[in-house]
Amino acid sequence: MKNIDSNSHLRGESIYLDDVPLVAGTLFAVAFGSPHAHGKITNLDLSQAEQMPGLVRIFTYKDVPGENQIGGIVPDEPLLAEHHVHFQGMPVVLVVAESVEEAKMALKKIKIDIEPLPIITDPRVAREKGELIVPPRTFKIGDVDTAWSQCAHIVEGIAETNGQEHLYIETQGAYTFPLENGSIRIISSTQGPTAVQRHAAICLGIPMHKLEVDVTRLGGGFGGKEDQASMWAILCALATYHLKKPVKYSLDRMEDMRMTGKRNPYSSDFKIGLDKDLKIIAYEATFHQNAGAAADLSPAVLERTLFHSTNSYFVPNVRATAYSCRTNLPPNTAFRGFGGPQGMFVIEAAIHKAAEIIGVPAWEIQSKNLIKTGDEFPFGQKAESEANQCWQTAKEIFQPEQIEKDIEKFNSENVLFKKGMSFMPICFGISFTKTPMNQARALVHVYTDGSIGVSTGAVEMGQSVNTKMLQVAAQIFSVDPDRIKIHSTNTFRIANTSPSAASATADLNGKAVEIACHAILARLKTITSEKFSVSINDISIVNEEVLIKGKPMNYNWLQLIQDGYLKRIALSEHGHYAPPGLHYDAKIEKGHPFAYHVYGTALTEVTVDCLRGTYVVDSVKIVHDFGTSMNFAVDRGQIEGGLVQGIGWMTLEEIVYDENGRLRSNALSTYKVPDIYSVPKNIDLHLLKTDKDNMAILKSKAVGEPPLMYGIGTYFALRNAVKAFNPDAEMAYSTPMTPEKVLMGLIGKLETNDAITK
Ligand code: MTE
Ligand code: HPA
Ligand code: MOS
Repeated sequence: MKNIDSNSHLRGESIYLDDVPLVAGTLFAVAFGSPHAHGKITNLDLSQAEQMPGLVRIFTYKDVPGENQIGGIVPDEPLLAEHHVHFQGMPVVLVVAESVEEAKMALKKIKIDIEPLPIITDPRVAREKGELIVPPRTFKIGDVDTAWSQCAHIVEGIAETNGQEHLYIETQGAYTFPLENGSIRIISSTQGPTAVQRHAAICLGIPMHKLEVDVTRLGGGFGGKEDQASMWAILCALATYHLKKPVKYSLDRMEDMRMTGKRNPYSSDFKIGLDKDLKIIAYEATFHQNAGAAADLSPAVLERTLFHSTNSYFVPNVRATAYSCRTNLPPNTAFRGFGGPQGMFVIEAAIHKAAEIIGVPAWEIQSKNLIKTGDEFPFGQKAESEANQCWQTAKEIFQPEQIEKDIEKFNSENVLFKKGMSFMPICFGISFTKTPMNQARALVHVYTDGSIGVSTGAVEMGQSVNTKMLQVAAQIFSVDPDRIKIHSTNTFRIANTSPSAASATADLNGKAVEIACHAILARLKTITSEKFSVSINDISIVNEEVLIKGKPMNYNWLQLIQDGYLKRIALSEHGHYAPPGLHYDAKIEKGHPFAYHVYGTALTEVTVDCLRGTYVVDSVKIVHDFGTSMNFAVDRGQIEGGLVQGIGWMTLEEIVYDENGRLRSNALSTYKVPDIYSVPKNIDLHLLKTDKDNMAILKSKAVGEPPLMYGIGTYFALRNAVKAFNPDAEMAYSTPMTPEKVLMGLIGKLETNDAITK
């Protein structure tokens, strides 16, 4: 089935926040962000700003009627700064005016004096100074300390991954409306409508039932709107609360880049030990997560780094410790993969470094250590593994030995161009790692004209979850999909939603839709059984026809629904779903946190231009574990998009803060994201089809985040190509692998001229 939004997207008719028609009297908000990364506010002078034309009012923390607090996991983040600022861009006051231009003019007249305090941007420095967001956590299995003695090879090193700007096409924003009796309607570009509602209630000091948060769709979220949409929505709500007027704030691109957090950068230490047969015997890792100035989601991201620290491998002896380090940068946050990619990069670096030192291809180590069904992850869950099936299928279809030979031949025949390849197996756990978040609800109405309205807690952000929700309802009722409408995500219709995140949205909300539809269907079958005096088990509905023992009765969906109404049965149902079997005990760091894992293998080939340091990704060949895909076009879109986003993170996207905590890469001219030229010339996608995953919606496994991690393969393929030109290249395991870094690797210690002659 086609994505239900594609026609309106193509015609530009889909409604995003900025397309909501303006209501008369709407005011416009702009936040004034701290010009310093760390300091004490000694003076704030708003007098000139308040005289500016069009200015309506300026709000400070003193105007927050409830608690001035938006921290979700740790209460460490004020809505508006009080006496201290902790990062450049931290909102200090909110300016509200009759137009955006007037608000921005007034903003320029704000005077602030800040007494500077020391600025930390490096997570290792933060750890030394004891600046931790939460206590460190350690995952353990076996006994690493004694295991080293059984190892023939022990390799240590450092691996670093940089952050990543979400660059959702639609920036952050919100539009709020006063309702009667102090209620407020909030339209927000958020992945977490309930997070917005909950924190707006805290800040405004009013009950959640007075706050209606409504989301039609997002122009992308990628994790950046899981928690960080709340700030802008609550700021607008604050202004609406006081002024009783509609208030809108839609950030411009540079504001968004400067003021919001990104993927958490990590700096990590690793030590890996292998026996003479290349079995990984022991692995130790210490992760330093750059959390930024407040917790935001970083403690949960940290946890997922540990859950994925051994990627797709079974390692009998592991000790992995992670520190969430407080720095003076905007609070970093969720980003596709949610700490998993950061953890996986480190073990991949360890394996590739070991391979280089031992003198074997990395894929020999990778293939010998893939996790098998029944093997235990360091956190106690037993694997239901498809890792070997994916790998073997990839070997059969893609013939890597031949590719390797072809690459060797090409490299021996070419001086200024070198090719490289790499394998990247993935293994990603599906479920929120916080077990209670794994629940969802759906509200299904069947109207008397036979049309169906479905509301869930799922937020559509381009991943096509609404299409999947529609497919579930259409399949259970066996009706024409055109009869079904997926409504906006609204906290008055669906309460206590988890954010649309963790790739689990379709599973959780889809199962709630299933439950609601089955309940309505059962009632419809009951009245049918009475009408025809037949057993319920003999009744089925197929393509809108009621069948008894498979035979048509000249009785269709519309007649059935009208009878249902006359018989006064409930044609609506609220379904609730909580996946069974999940548990986790953080005290011992053991449990069964994931409903299942998604596996896959990617084989990446690149060509490096050894004169320029530039490169192309020739192909990425993937075998991906889909379960039984319910919508292959949608799932393929997720895989291609995730892959290219991963390649961007690994190669081009370079976030630069200076020592004062100022974002230097603050525009699209200084921050490069993948474009059509960065897309692999060939993406060859093969399905591994299985049907055992009953925890996945219609056995169609979650697909949102896992493919991002295929992009990690590009980093190692590039390294291998550089090594083919300059075997002595000394390159830190540090991403992104920009053309500058490639060039430095190519020339290495040689003089530039020597390199060129060579
Ligand atoms: N795809 C698009 N087009 N836009 C997005 O914002 N977010 C990703 C992924 N794919 C995203 C996307 C992230 S971070 C997650 S967690 C999942 O979609 C969330 O949706 P799902 O749970 O329905 O997979
Ligand atoms: N993934 C994504 N988002 C989350 C998670 C998770 O595991 N936990 C809390 N928010
Ligand atoms: Mo995705 S990072 O879980 O929003």
